[in-house]
Amino acid sequence: MTAQPVLKTDLVQTQLVKPCLVSNDLNDELNRESSRELNKDLKKSTQSKFSKAAASYNTHANVQKHAASDLFSLIKPGINKNKLCVDLGAGPLVNTHTLQSMFASVVAIDLSLNMLQSSDLTAPKICADMDNLPLQANSVDVIYSNFAVQWSANFSALMQSLYSILKPGGQAYISAVVEGSLNEIKTAFAALDSNSHINTFNSELHINQSVQKAGFTINSAQKRIYTDEYITPLKAIASIKAIGATTQNHTNTRQGLLTKSSLKKVCSAYPLINNKACVSYHVVLLSLEKH
Ligand SMILES: C[S@@+](CC[C@H](N)C(=O)[O-])C[C@H]1O[C@@H](n2cnc3c(N)ncnc32)[C@H](O)[C@@H]1O
Repeated sequence: MTAQPVLKTDLVQTQLVKPCLVSNDLNDELNRESSRELNKDLKKSTQSKFSKAAASYNTHANVQKHAASDLFSLIKPGINKNKLCVDLGAGPLVNTHTLQSMFASVVAIDLSLNMLQSSDLTAPKICADMDNLPLQANSVDVIYSNFAVQWSANFSALMQSLYSILKPGGQAYISAVVEGSLNEIKTAFAALDSNSHINTFNSELHINQSVQKAGFTINSAQKRIYTDEYITPLKAIASIKAIGATTQNHTNTRQGLLTKSSLKKVCSAYPLINNKACVSYHVVLLSLEKH
């Protein structure tokens, strides 16, 4: 794998980034992580799959766009023009432009360098792992994170880290994909074997407990179900690949490619609604505050 430089600007370097944690090579940083809770293979697979999907992400990320817009509507109006916002798990910076219209500066952070580089938008970008953020304590006013935190290896620890990074009075707007998501795909693959073919997602309860344990005040927590419709089960299954979300965070996975007959079996078992193959995402939208 090629070196993954951390991209810096003067703003990022002087106000935000912990000098000791800045690395010119994300792989080096991942390799040094033995003492921290980090599954290197999982991270590398996530990074690689999102990187491969960088070019196609924007055209396929429909539910993500709806969730992003719902999350924007939670942002407290007011004097935001002098505030520093972090777009965490920014992907190809699809939400960064809107955030720039709201805040003085926006720093985009993502594990995938390809994702960050696939946008022409001018913004400070940092290629980093959300589970090992190279940010100073009490340095950020606002954290916005859409459809990304479910990739954290430890959601509870991530919430503690975000709490620490925020300044007192800081806000976090987070959408997290939770249990119940991709159930149609799970049902279809159950016809094939007993392996799990989708990610394991945190429960809503775990999300709520983690943010409270970190010290956040929950200003609002809403559960929404976002659904994409496809004309065939095959297109529904392919949609997950097109957005790069095929890495699985557990060991009960099936090895090897599907044969044609297996795929046919899976497609026949796909639950259809009005002749459409749906892919649903259960999402918790959070508005949090550090006092
Ligand atoms: C579904 S995309 C969401 C992108 C964007 N926020 C949006 O609303 O469309 C998830 C993003 O999270 C990033 N990601 C996954 N694991 C990450 C990690 N450990 N640290 C930082 N970013 C991560 C992926 O590279 C990907 O760009």
